[in-house]
Amino acid sequence: MNKKYRKTIIAGNWKMNLVPSEVRPFTEELRTLLPKTKTCEVALCVPFTHISTLRRIIKDSRILVSAQDVSIYEKGAYTGEISAEMLSDMGVHYVIVGHSECRQYHGDTDFTVGQKAKAVLDKGMSPIICVGETLEQRERSLTKDYVSYQVLAALSYIPEDMIKQCVIAYEPIWAIGTGKTATPEEAQEVCENIRTVIREKSGARMARGVSILYGGSMNAKNAQELLSMPDIDGGLIGGASLKPAEFSKIIDAVAEVTGE
Ligand code: PGA
Repeated sequence: MNKKYRKTIIAGNWKMNLVPSEVRPFTEELRTLLPKTKTCEVALCVPFTHISTLRRIIKDSRILVSAQDVSIYEKGAYTGEISAEMLSDMGVHYVIVGHSECRQYHGDTDFTVGQKAKAVLDKGMSPIICVGETLEQRERSLTKDYVSYQVLAALSYIPEDMIKQCVIAYEPIWAIGTGKTATPEEAQEVCENIRTVIREKSGARMARGVSILYGGSMNAKNAQELLSMPDIDGGLIGGASLKPAEFSKIIDAVAEVTGE
């Protein structure tokens, strides 16, 4: 399917790393390294405590301030939670929902992930909905069914006309932070299936417009091969997004793939 119908996105997921005072030196270095031509969107999904600093620093740059999680609730007595409205008021563009670490440590389920995605969309931002199988599920040939279910469960909360604003990130759990990457063919197979699931649910036009990212030990060395796959429209990058030089090389890989 033709990639021209969708955005290429390189999103860094800082997780719980770096402190607010490191945001400025990081961003200043990254800005000097970013290619002049805009071949893709660049987002930094930072901890909540870093958002206002990042926003101030990147005001006139192409970097999109983004977040790592959100509450399913709109407002009220939910100590410790951050609402979608708070994030949108701070200029946040993308919000990761359903990262496997949030599913594992914070009890996110396929249903809360859908609710979070909807909350993000309702405030004019875009969710990056994470899905992916465990090693055991892969070894038992359950990947396709399991990931399809995760996608359908999340999208069941989203009105049809909002689906094109969603981004899906395929992140096999066994590849996250392990240095083990899915091969480009393995990643492509699952991303292609995700697009098929969206096509069967919402039609070909919707399916060809949704950006599907790969995440899981993507780095400067393997990015180009992964990004040249027809259904991989970018990356969600953890460890390799913490160093400007490494992260910018992944952004350069987009230019190499698109030839711009
Ligand atoms: P990783 O993390 O690149 O460090 O594997 C990716 C992610 O969890 O989003």
